[in-house]
Amino acid sequence: MSDRVNIGVLGLGSVFEKYGRNLASLREQGRVEITALHDPNSDRMAAAASQFPGASHCSTPIGVINRDDVDAVLVLTSMNEHGGLARQAFEGGKHVLVEKPMATTIHEAQALVDLGRDSDQLIVCAPHVLLSPTYREMHARLTSGAIGDVKLARALYGWSGPSWGEWFYRPGGGALFDLGVYNVTSLCGFLGSVRRVTALVGTAVKERLVNGSPMKSEADDNAQVLLDFGDEVYAAITTGFTIQKYGRAPAIELYGLSGTMNMLGDDWAPRGFEEWRNEGGCWEVYDETDPGWPWSDGVNHLVSCIEQGLPSVTRPEQAFHVLEVMLAALQSAAQGRAVEIGSEFPAPDYSRHAWPHIDPRRLHDRSS
Ligand SMILES: NC(=O)c1ccc[n+]([C@@H]2O[C@H](COP(=O)([O-])OP(=O)(O)OC[C@H]3O[C@@H](n4cnc5c(N)ncnc54)[C@H](O)[C@@H]3O)[C@@H](O)[C@H]2O)c1
Repeated sequence: MSDRVNIGVLGLGSVFEKYGRNLASLREQGRVEITALHDPNSDRMAAAASQFPGASHCSTPIGVINRDDVDAVLVLTSMNEHGGLARQAFEGGKHVLVEKPMATTIHEAQALVDLGRDSDQLIVCAPHVLLSPTYREMHARLTSGAIGDVKLARALYGWSGPSWGEWFYRPGGGALFDLGVYNVTSLCGFLGSVRRVTALVGTAVKERLVNGSPMKSEADDNAQVLLDFGDEVYAAITTGFTIQKYGRAPAIELYGLSGTMNMLGDDWAPRGFEEWRNEGGCWEVYDETDPGWPWSDGVNHLVSCIEQGLPSVTRPEQAFHVLEVMLAALQSAAQGRAVEIGSEFPAPDYSRHAWPHIDPRRLHDRSS
């Protein structure tokens, strides 16, 4: 019992349904206990309490953070709350998992990165896309030079937008922070730090229906973002709450000087990848080895890192960089000019972690 990681949760809305499944499974494995919960919404508190009856119901976030029987705090609230709550939890001596983005202002994000530097306490930041088996396999192949130096990339993620949570359409919300964040994180994990950003970002749908009531949208919902990684490496991101459906378009396309690699599905729910190498002269298609991989896997990663005393793969410095890029996209769109990026982050280090063996099933080859 004492070896278990004790978890407190702030924010028990839509995403808690998903994280709750990971937590229930980890609890069954004897690795965690859910000890404290808080959400100002009493219906959501009641629903979570029935799922985890042993957990204390706290009336404030600090009530969760200050408990001795909480080792790690999950911040799963609306976005504007992330930076402040994550900071309070860290300063309260807890490990932290924070949903995306890590903060909505650069100052809050900087404070978190500064706190985490040289500390044994972990800050695990969503999105957890770098952890999927497909992403890890693609990353390993790219690093080994499978398609040569990547010079161009494209990324896509969008849908028609949430019908819950007014905060999605208020300042501090928006499609870039909610959706574009996945593509920016994925591309940076593959290609490194961005040097310069140019973007078109706007609010295409002026009024939204949220929980059945109309509201004026004050946040971006439509974006085309160009990223310059230096050395003539360029990427484009298409994202928005303005996309009803897309067909077979890959989530991520990577164009190397000796081949092409496409992630299939979405980067938060990959369905494998396809690879073209000039020397092979055919497409090779690989299925996702773990089709049930959950985008909430970051909580499993957090617990493994705590158990083994290891740093997380997605570094807070990368989450900071991703936020700087998104804020730069908003600034670029408002000012009609390219915006330079100041921060850099270390490349993801997968080597220190024991991962389940990846054995991608080769489905078939397609001749060109
Ligand atoms: N819904 C999704 O599909 C999805 C997927 C991945 C990540 N996310 C991210 O997860 C976060 C939450 O999204 P959601 O869809 O669950 O939103 P939601 O609106 O359904 O839930 C957010 C919850 O946070 C609570 N909350 C607000 N302030 C709080 C505070 N100070 N302390 C504790 N609780 C507080 C609200 O009462 C609400 O219940 C967002 O950052 C979102 O971008 C959402």
